[in-house]
Amino acid sequence: MYTVEQTQAFQQNTKHFLGNINNEIGADKIEDLRGILRFYEYQYYVLNHSLISDFEYDQLYKLLERTEKNDPELITKNSPTQRVGSSLNEGFANVQHLVPMLSLDNSYDADDLNDFDRKAKQASGLEQIEYCVEPKFDGASISLIYENDLLVRATTRGDGVSGDDITNNTKQIRSIPLSAPFSKFGIQQIEIRGEVIMTKDSFDKYNESLAVQGLPMVANPRNTAAGSLRIKDPKEVARRNLDAFLYHVSFVSRSNNVSRFSFLVNENTNNTEQETRNENNEKQETINDYSTHSSQLTMLWDCGFRSPNKEKKVCQNINEVIGYVQEFEGKRDELPYEIDGMVIKVNDLHLQDELGMTSHHPRWAIAYKFKARQATTRLINVEFQVGRTGAVTPVAKLAPVYLGGVTVSSISIHNEDYIKEKDLKIGDTVLIERAGDVIPQIVKSLPDLRVGNEVEIDFPKQCPVCKSELFKEEGEAVWRCINIECEAQVVEKIIHFVSKDAMDIKSFGDANVRLFYSLNLIKDIPGIYTLNLDEIVTLEGFGKKSIDNLKAAIETSKQQPLYRLIYGLGIRFVGETTAKTLANSVEHLLDFKNKTEEELQLLDDVGVKVAKSIHHFFSNEQNIKMLETLEQLGLQLKNTKKETVANGGLAGQTFLFTGTLTKLKRSDAEALAESKGGIIVSGVSAKLNYLVVGEDAGSKLEKAKKINTIKVISEDEFLELVG
Ligand code: IVH
Repeated sequence: MYTVEQTQAFQQNTKHFLGNINNEIGADKIEDLRGILRFYEYQYYVLNHSLISDFEYDQLYKLLERTEKNDPELITKNSPTQRVGSSLNEGFANVQHLVPMLSLDNSYDADDLNDFDRKAKQASGLEQIEYCVEPKFDGASISLIYENDLLVRATTRGDGVSGDDITNNTKQIRSIPLSAPFSKFGIQQIEIRGEVIMTKDSFDKYNESLAVQGLPMVANPRNTAAGSLRIKDPKEVARRNLDAFLYHVSFVSRSNNVSRFSFLVNENTNNTEQETRNENNEKQETINDYSTHSSQLTMLWDCGFRSPNKEKKVCQNINEVIGYVQEFEGKRDELPYEIDGMVIKVNDLHLQDELGMTSHHPRWAIAYKFKARQATTRLINVEFQVGRTGAVTPVAKLAPVYLGGVTVSSISIHNEDYIKEKDLKIGDTVLIERAGDVIPQIVKSLPDLRVGNEVEIDFPKQCPVCKSELFKEEGEAVWRCINIECEAQVVEKIIHFVSKDAMDIKSFGDANVRLFYSLNLIKDIPGIYTLNLDEIVTLEGFGKKSIDNLKAAIETSKQQPLYRLIYGLGIRFVGETTAKTLANSVEHLLDFKNKTEEELQLLDDVGVKVAKSIHHFFSNEQNIKMLETLEQLGLQLKNTKKETVANGGLAGQTFLFTGTLTKLKRSDAEALAESKGGIIVSGVSAKLNYLVVGEDAGSKLEKAKKINTIKVISEDEFLELVG
């Protein structure tokens, strides 16, 4: 980016400015001063070189601030002072990407990579393909647009088609330049993709600062980076010291030519003199042909971005790729940031274009995911937690250990059988692992390391909360507390009832349920609707506004559709889909009082076990009383949808969607069918009326063809059907 001569000139100029730091500077010098500040930002944030003390940098920055304040007309959009933005009052604007942001297909071993290579060769007819291999950064993806060398927009991935406009927050990331010399390459507008990350060091420092303030610590750098991008106060974003790697050019336009590859060959003859330097500022061969991914990474690097230019490797064949990903996996822990694998990309951009993409991922790239990370630690104790259904779950308390980006200090060990199977004892050294986003697991204990004072894990015979006797059903591994008044169960049931997928009573939340219960303000589900809000006003942290919100959310929930209420009741084995089936099968919720297990089994997705559980719930007097109370309190127990169903024309008809729909999102299509009284089912069976077939439909279509009562229809036919 900078030549040795330029570096020397900047340092010389720095001395001059610092020597006259208290003097005002003229308008003709302001761009020099900005150039110097950009130079040090680049050295520090992209190259990790400190060429100047913080104090000296601050003095120069203040001089610029002062000069711009005296004459605001001098301010430019890419001035180093322009990173600071004001807080947002409302949400982020949703904006469309120039090109959709796709994901990557995954591979896990050499066989998968060989497969990928074979398919690419087959599709292209080539005998050998060159790849560019680079780290897969574990952060949050972003998309940046530069126009006429200025950063004009930064966006989160969102749903891939559009995302949140996070330009102000992105300006707080100092390794992202506010301006970059793309015009040198004849580029007028460019969209580039990358990953915002938090280095391990920044993560530790951030956690330390939280601890000092007595605030809860954050779990891992990835979630913290992603969360930080959506903070409304850019100053808080700046405090978190985020970083960004840019690794992909998705769109380029020159003044008269718009294409992703329009700068393949550097047409600007002057550019032959342009000099390229690596991160150590050594001269590199001049690149004039930007027709490979690897040269694009170099171009991004030369424009001042942190691209994986140093970490990348161009491999001549897939064996070299396999060697490189394995080598990098070994170095993973030495890196200052988290990576969760490597990305392998066909190097030739023309070939990338030829290979194209599916609706989900490009066919010219694949992610290679690293194996689960493992660590050993000590099992210090076991605690027993009681869930909403009374299930007692043992939770292993561990000596905290850092594993794949998170500090692990407790892991569920499921049930008594699991403890026996893994041969776990208190005091044991245990091997734990975490694969990707998956919850950490105990792989095994290490009995060879036992010293003799380890203690057997005694599974309680009584509920750890209400002390009533625990029961275990035959054939089950789980011990349960069957006292339905057990405090732990009641609290968990209320938490489930108010949760997002159930009655969605916003601003209630786990913590508030626990708090209100502990203060005796709420004892059961109907208690939500008789809650004395005047008493809550007196509690610390509850202002008038939060009480008003709570009141409104409770009121609104009374109108939730019946299936949400059913789901919220937490009947065992009744998930959201079964709740919908149940809601659609009655006029009024209490009609279930009179249904036999056999009748219930006639419903879709309701087998023997589920029917038994539903029947059990509605045979319990206390439950019926609770439902009657809820109705008196204004909740909707009638199936109001039934009316729509009757008018809908598709009343009771079952639908299943398969393959990729092109006009509607799957969830919207399902909602549309339901709005007309249709019922969504999960599998092909004789109970299915319509199979709606999108592109690339597979086994479900084959199966449906064998059952001649099923009507197989296209997406267009479906749209016609629902009108
Ligand atoms: S290429 C069409 N390169 O991984 C190009 N992605 O699991 C798609 N990621 O959504 C992206 N490091 O957010 C690419 N060197 C890298 C990457 C990378 C991290 C992320 C990216 C993507 C996700 C897919």
